[in-house]
Amino acid sequence: MPDASGVWQFVEKTARETFEAANFREIRTPIFESTDLFARSIGSTTDIVTKEMYTFQDRKGRSLTLRPEETAPVVRACVENNLMVPDNVVKLYYIGPMFRYERPQAGRYRQFHQVGVEAFGSDDPSIDAEIIAVAVSLFEKLGLENLRVNINSVGCPDCRPSYLEELKKYFGSKIGEMCDECKKRLEFNPLRILDCKNEACQKYISKAPAPLDYICGKCKADFEKAVKYLKGLKIDFEINNRLVRGLDYYTGTTFEVISGKLGAQNAVCGGGRYDNLVEELGGRKTPAVGFAVGVERIIEILKGSNKLIPSKKLDVFIAAVGEEAMGEGLRLLRELRGLGVSSDMDFIDRSLKAKMKAADRSKAKFTLIIGDEEIKKNAVILRTMEDGSQREVSIDKVAGELSL
Ligand code: HAM
Repeated sequence: MPDASGVWQFVEKTARETFEAANFREIRTPIFESTDLFARSIGSTTDIVTKEMYTFQDRKGRSLTLRPEETAPVVRACVENNLMVPDNVVKLYYIGPMFRYERPQAGRYRQFHQVGVEAFGSDDPSIDAEIIAVAVSLFEKLGLENLRVNINSVGCPDCRPSYLEELKKYFGSKIGEMCDECKKRLEFNPLRILDCKNEACQKYISKAPAPLDYICGKCKADFEKAVKYLKGLKIDFEINNRLVRGLDYYTGTTFEVISGKLGAQNAVCGGGRYDNLVEELGGRKTPAVGFAVGVERIIEILKGSNKLIPSKKLDVFIAAVGEEAMGEGLRLLRELRGLGVSSDMDFIDRSLKAKMKAADRSKAKFTLIIGDEEIKKNAVILRTMEDGSQREVSIDKVAGELSL
């Protein structure tokens, strides 16, 4: 709604400025993609793919899906357009709506918006730290406090299987006392058990084997380097060995930013490394890392924080009575807008009294009154709305008389 859009514009503008200052360039991808793209990238056993996709058939019977996230579409678009060249880092950002058929609740919507970044072409942990630093500076510029960065490693295809075996072994003896969802997860995606919020399950999850004790030397070294860089940047973070992401494409270091100001849906940002996705989607092997921020969740925090988002004020409102005066009003609107002065007019043929009420409602700084008298004198009455003072000015000199 118009009253709320100021804060949306503020978030989007701040995101653009932050990302562009870090040399990310905008990419815009279609709202829908072939269903197969998401099934292959996000993972066929994930909640998103099994339960949450808006999937439909087009007129030729092809299966399409409203994008539930933007990483896979960005990879697809980059592969198709040959954007990734060896030994070159490509940095992209996006802003737009995503769709997930989730149970709606505070902070969880079926159409929601993300701003996010993806960086392709480097497997060096310095770019993991860069990505996290960009997220943190976005939150700083938005004036958000009390956010916590959680980081973890989910390992790579070389070391994850042995960690999953450990998890299966550990949970195998306890699964009888755990929830039905976890029973399914044990079979298809044991890592997701770590994400279960059920109290009975939590008792066991808290003591489960930690990934950092099982991942391979390379994943561990990369994680430790990212940690070292973050410390060097003086970014506060916590290592959270229960952090798992809801998408299967991640490899190695992953992270989330959590707010203390939200309820159950407290993640404002999620991301990490996904070094195999480009190749899996038909490109050359290209390491990658990125994140996405949930805009609705940011706005929820901003609303609660009483931070004033200055809304734009109209400069000039024109109250012109009669056909000739309306004509002059239209001409003035063109002139003023050409000079960058925001202006509007009462477009209803009615009395001066009614027009002045409209001028009040518009909250403009100045009102220009034009009636038969003024037309004769080639003048307008310039009223400063704050103190009600009025003076006559020549119609040709209006712009110069406005102290904006
Ligand atoms: P994700 O964790 O699924 O990651 O979503 C990122 C953020 O989007 C969440 O932290 C949350 O703020 C917001 N979000 C997710 N679902 C909803 C919803 N139903 N309603 C409101 N907000 C929601 C991804 O989407 C990955 N593509 C992030 C990424 C980019 N990883 C690497 N690059």
